[in-house]
Amino acid sequence: MEKSEFERVIEQLPIGACIINQDMTITFANPTFLGGLTIRQPDLVGQPLLTVFEEQARFLKRKIDSVFILKNPSFSYWQQRPHVFPMRSSRPITGDESQMYQNVQFMPLSNENAEVTHVSIFVTDVTAEASYFIQQSDLKNALEDEHQQLKALHQELKVAQKKMLQSEKMASIGQLAAGVAHEINNPIGFVSSNLETLKDYALKLIKTTQTQKKIIVKQAEDRFIKLLEDVYERQGVDFILEDLPELLDESLDGAERVKKIVNSLRDFALSDEESWMEVDLCAEIESTLIVLKNELKYKVQIEKQFPAEPVFLWGKASKIRQLLFNTILNSLQAMVSGGTLTIECKQEQDKIKLIIEDTGAGIAESDLERIFDPFFTTKEVGQGTGLGLSEVYTITEEHEASVDVLSKVGEGSRFVFVFNTPKSS
Ligand SMILES: Nc1ncnc2c1ncn2[C@@H]1O[C@H](COP(=O)(O)OP(=O)(O)O)[C@@H](O)[C@H]1O
Ligand SMILES: [Mg+2]
Repeated sequence: MEKSEFERVIEQLPIGACIINQDMTITFANPTFLGGLTIRQPDLVGQPLLTVFEEQARFLKRKIDSVFILKNPSFSYWQQRPHVFPMRSSRPITGDESQMYQNVQFMPLSNENAEVTHVSIFVTDVTAEASYFIQQSDLKNALEDEHQQLKALHQELKVAQKKMLQSEKMASIGQLAAGVAHEINNPIGFVSSNLETLKDYALKLIKTTQTQKKIIVKQAEDRFIKLLEDVYERQGVDFILEDLPELLDESLDGAERVKKIVNSLRDFALSDEESWMEVDLCAEIESTLIVLKNELKYKVQIEKQFPAEPVFLWGKASKIRQLLFNTILNSLQAMVSGGTLTIECKQEQDKIKLIIEDTGAGIAESDLERIFDPFFTTKEVGQGTGLGLSEVYTITEEHEASVDVLSKVGEGSRFVFVFNTPKSS
């Protein structure tokens, strides 16, 4: 029998089509449907659908039953169920997509009495769309991942850069400081020792002058006495004699201060040859407190929270001493009208924790970023060099330790150090 045009269209349709009757028997299947199947079934027409497609039987039965009962079309979308029928993809995009992604429609077929006698099934190949979609979504996930990684990296870089800037600053200023300290060290040495001698000489000269004057006043003729008094008057000798020792004392004080600054500059300059050893932290704290006895004149309560057993950190003893001295001195200076200094040290796993806490003036939030900067000080000229904490910073760096500061204006400050133990180094 000659095929009608209509039949030929159905055969050429790029959509797989088949028809099922109420017994679930296949009554028709077009070439696209048959050709796509990966199972070999010479004669599909007349076969029971649920036996042919055994693996999908439950899903197919549910779908087809619902069409017969509700008389409404039903769909299956590839994202929920990519492969309803075992079919190969007609347009494999990538090597992976050998199976056809399908959208499947189940349509009711009714007779003249509006009874659903058959269900037609249309299988559309959406492999191209699906793989494009999957690719895009993989790409999106990959981009998202990459974005997260970049973000984390950026954060890490920011932290590293900040650290590097600080170290850089320390290193260059350290070098400068060492150079300047070296240059100043000699001259200030002889200036201050000459000043000592000068003061000694001056005191002797003053005594001599005063004795001379006494003798002359007592024994010389009035004429001479008058002459002497004129000279004294004109030259302001009385004032000079009084002012001279004071001037020298002040100069000696100044020279002493310069010496101290030079010394801190030299300490601040990078590490010397001192050897590494086990440092008994609590013992060092005790001796630092003794050295700082003078500063303890204020009504400062000291709370020591030390463990029963000594804790040892791995470090350079003199540097640790310097760190303790600088940090504790700052705390004491921040409590001019009294307060409590709490010093705690303890071992936590293979780390040593040192906490120095005061109830002093506290540090303004805007200053917190700068307290470790060389020469940053809020103290009056002559009171602070601004080198204490930058030295502390250099020492922690050298010890691969860390320092964290928590502070609130009017409440106090808390410095937390974490050091390595001899084992963890
Ligand atoms: N415990 C503290 N309480 C309040 N301020 C502090 C404390 N420690 C440090 N500071 C602040 O940090 C600054 C820098 O300290 P430092 O480097 O030791 O220099 P200096 O003590 O010579 O000023 C101080 O001037 C002070 O403002
Ligand atoms: Mg200080």
